[in-house]
Amino acid sequence: MELVNPKVETYCHEQTQAEPELLQALAEDTRAHMPMAQMLTGRLEGRFLKLLVQLTGARRILEIGMYTGYSALSMAEALPEDGELITCDIDPAAEAFARRYFAQSPHGHKIRVAMGAALDTIAGLSGEFDLVFLDADKESYPAYYEAVLPLLRRGGLLVVDNSLWSGKVLKPEDEASLAIAELNTRIAADPRVENVLLTVRDGVNLVRKR
Ligand SMILES: C[S@@+](CC[C@H](N)C(=O)[O-])C[C@H]1O[C@@H](n2cnc3c(N)ncnc32)[C@H](O)[C@@H]1O
Repeated sequence: MELVNPKVETYCHEQTQAEPELLQALAEDTRAHMPMAQMLTGRLEGRFLKLLVQLTGARRILEIGMYTGYSALSMAEALPEDGELITCDIDPAAEAFARRYFAQSPHGHKIRVAMGAALDTIAGLSGEFDLVFLDADKESYPAYYEAVLPLLRRGGLLVVDNSLWSGKVLKPEDEASLAIAELNTRIAADPRVENVLLTVRDGVNLVRKR
């Protein structure tokens, strides 16, 4: 299901300021050489994430699901020089790709890559985060939510990507759709947070911890 009319989506893309050249090159390189390139967030959501980091004044970010590093670099752009972004992934090919671009970016030094199953990585983290971006395996979304909420500072922001999953959450049948739909329902009823589910790209759930 198309969530947004493709002409409107293209218009929004065109009317959103361009990302830096390095990010454009990363996106093109990903599309040319990596499988599942549709996983990359892209200009609209990438600029949105950067803006969220700016607006919240986040200094410490946790990303679950790095892939080739597009969203990590987008958010790192808005971090202060001494800010930190920890990003998790399990795919060594994606790691090698992302590290190549982090090394070329003036913001790459703010990023720490944590390889291994994200739930294990999260269990080993200490200290609070100002912002968490959730964008890894959808089947684990409810588990990620419960794991990261205690690490988020009060007033901190959790950003959940693919919260509409091409509209499949309306009639969830497969494991991923069921997990996302379950999390959406849980968040909407959770007194620990306040949220708004946006139709940005594939659905972005903005969740603020009370
Ligand atoms: C949708 S992609 C992330 C896209 C990225 N945020 C971007 O904007 O380019 C999801 C990533 O999660 C990773 N992943 C899947 N299962 C994981 C797990 N259990 N722990 C950590 N990362 C995982 C995949 O290898 C994949 O690179």
